[in-house]
Formats: sequence, C-alpha cells, structure tokens
Amino acid sequence: MDYFVYRDNHLFAEDVAVAEIAAQHHTPVYIYSRATLERHWRAFDDALGSHPHLICYAVKANSNIGVLSVLAKLGSGFDIVSAGELARVIEAGGDPAKVVFSGVGKKHAEIRYALEQGIMCFNVESEPELHRINEVAATLGVQAPISLRINPDVDAKTHPYISTGLKANKFGIARERALATYELAAGLSNLNIIGMDCHIGSQLTDIDPFVDALDRLLVLIDELAAKGIHIHHLDVGGGLGVTYDKESPPHPKEYAAALAQRLTGRDALKLILEPGRAIAANAGIMVTQVEFIKEGEEKHFAIVDAAMNDLIRPALYSAWQNIIRVDTQTQATPRVYDIVGPICETGDFIGRDRELAVAPGDLLAVRSAGAYGFVMASNYNSRCRPAEIMVDKNQVIVVRERENQKDLWKGEYKLP
Ligand code: LLP
Repeated sequence: MDYFVYRDNHLFAEDVAVAEIAAQHHTPVYIYSRATLERHWRAFDDALGSHPHLICYAVKANSNIGVLSVLAKLGSGFDIVSAGELARVIEAGGDPAKVVFSGVGKKHAEIRYALEQGIMCFNVESEPELHRINEVAATLGVQAPISLRINPDVDAKTHPYISTGLKANKFGIARERALATYELAAGLSNLNIIGMDCHIGSQLTDIDPFVDALDRLLVLIDELAAKGIHIHHLDVGGGLGVTYDKESPPHPKEYAAALAQRLTGRDALKLILEPGRAIAANAGIMVTQVEFIKEGEEKHFAIVDAAMNDLIRPALYSAWQNIIRVDTQTQATPRVYDIVGPICETGDFIGRDRELAVAPGDLLAVRSAGAYGFVMASNYNSRCRPAEIMVDKNQVIVVRERENQKDLWKGEYKLP
C-alpha cells in the first residue's frame, strides 16, 4: 500500500498534486512519500513483534539523506556497503551502533572509519577480509564485532544479476567452509564473533528460498555452538520483492511469520533483516514530461525528458515499471508507445509497448521508482541529475536539488 493515489483524475503524492510539484520543481523529478516509507518500515518492524530484532534498511536502495533521516527517526538500523553510505547514515542522524557493514571489498580506510564510528557488526565475506579487519582493529586497539556471510547455495529464482546466494556468485563464504572459517576467526585476537549473515538475492517473490537459507544457517549455528562458538544474531539479508507489475510477493507479515516460526525455541537469537526495495520502491515515483510524439514506421514513440541516466533499471535489467498518466483527463487517442528518452542509445527506454493516451506536454509518472532509481542515476550525455522531493502530508520538501551545469564538471580541470 502506498500514498500515490488519484483524486478527481489527478495523481497525488499524499496531499499534494503531483502536477503542482512538477510545475514548481520541473521534470524529470523523483517524488517520495514519507508516510509510505514509514508504513513499509513499520510493516517489517511490527511483523517481528516481540522477538528480538532490528530492521537494518539497505541504504543502497535509496541513500538520500532525507529518506535516511525519516527512517533514522523511527529507530531503524542500516545495512551499508561503503564508507560513503556510513557517512550518509551519520549525517542523516542514524545510530552507528545499529549499522551492519556488508560487501566483498572493504578497504582498510573503510574498516578503520567504521570501527572508529562504533558500528554494530561487519558482515565478512572472505578469509582475507577477516585478516584485514583483525589487523585494522589491532592498530586501533579494539575488538571488531563480526559476522560471517554464509553463501547457503540456494536458488533465489530471480534475475541473474541480482541473485547472490548461489555457489557461482562472488558473495559470502561457502557453507562447507563455514565452520573452518569461524574457527579461524575465533583464533584472531582482535575479532569478536557475534553473528551469522546471508543475503540470497533481490526481488524474491517466493518465501521458500528464504526459509531454505534460514534452515541451512540454523544447522550451522547449532554446529558452532557444539564447538563453543556462540552466535547472538542471525542476519537474513534483504531481498523481499515488490509488485512492479503482476508479481504477488508475500507481505512482510507473512515473510516475517515464516522466519519467526523457524526460530521457535531460540528466543535469544536476535533476527536482523536488511530490506531495501520493499521499503523504498513503492514509496517513490519519477515524473517526466512528454516532449514529442514521433510516429515511426513500425512503432510510435513518446519521447520524454527522462532517460536511462535518470532511471537505468529498464535498460540494465529489462525491468518493467508501470507508467501512468499524472492527469487522466485528455483528448489524446490511446496508442501503443515506446516511452524513450533523449539519450543516443537504442537501449534508452523507460518502457516499451505501453498503451497510453498522451500528447506533448503531458506528465507521466514511473511507479516503483523509490528504490534503485536516483541512486543509480548518472550524468551520461552530460545530463544534470534530477531533483528529489519528499512529500509529507501537504508539505513539499526538496531533499536534493536538481544539479546545474556547473555541477557537471565539478572537480574537472582544463589544460593550460
Ligand atoms: N543486503 C545486501 C547484502 C544486499 O546486497 C542487498 C541488495 C540488500 C540487502 C537489499 O536487497 P533488497 O531488499 O533491496 O532486495 N539494482 C538492482 C538491485 C540490486 C540489489 C543488490 N543487493 C535493481 O535495481 O533491481
């Protein structure tokens, strides 16, 4: 459920007409809904009830400071993958003691910064990384809290680029190596083993792979306990899917209930979740204006002012995102269009074969754009990245200004 709804044929973001925002802040523009973000975060938090848990929002899905500040105020934890993401969390008012640090390539300086800020845990992805964290912790004279990311070898049945829990993927430590790697960690004097972690992929629409992965990790936790290595939290990663089209992913409640059921009798084992998309995707839209209608020989094109640099998911993953009219009253005749941007590539499309009644000047909203939208935007073709707006009831807050041309060459230099 989200707060982007039509009222009298006009699309609203909470209590504000989307067309008004576009008129004032121009297009393309990302618009987020605070109430939707909060609702989605709470759906996870409430679903886990009294079982000890922490929702660590995956910052990579949408790292805007405004978005992070909304979640920080709810008491959210954060899953980060770089020093930059940690700096954003801190800037937004998030608590470093609720941060888990994932990712396969943590650099010395990133580890040092995270230790200095007192993060909750490193999700460690390899043996060399264990040694590196141990070394950096020793130079600071501290114990680094760690968890091993185990690759449970389950098929998440999602797009191959966002499937991460198979043996063939670069992520985590193979299940077969898990006990030996924990023993290695236990022997390193500046590490403190506190948890176990996994993340099997993104946009999962079925509960079974999550439960399979969890079961495999619980077996390992028991084997470790028998060796005197005690795991205090289990981080099951993110990955719960959302509805872009006709998918019907489980509700966070159902998902959490399935996990909690497996944890019966393990009341002290804290559960950590790292949802990104399920919190942010449907809390955002990207609004774009139709510039031209072009009648091709075989196809009709609606050329809009947003492009693959603003929203790359359709071009990169052939992702389908719904495209709807901002104002539904129009004289235009419905036709099947490819919605394309101004970039000089055939892959520059936002949607293909969409039936829409549109005319130049009309506004379109691309739905489910709150996750992996702006964060993956670039300046390709020297296009300024769009503004980001947060709507909070009837308030419109610019949470990132539209870039201007000087921003395009910031840090670049001419030769004398
Ligand atoms: N935790 C870890 C360790 C991750 O790698 C990810 C996502 C998440 C949590 C959050 O997953 P989520 O709940 O958002 O599914 N750019 C792609 C998605 C890449 C996801 C990468 N990892 C897309 O636009 O579909």
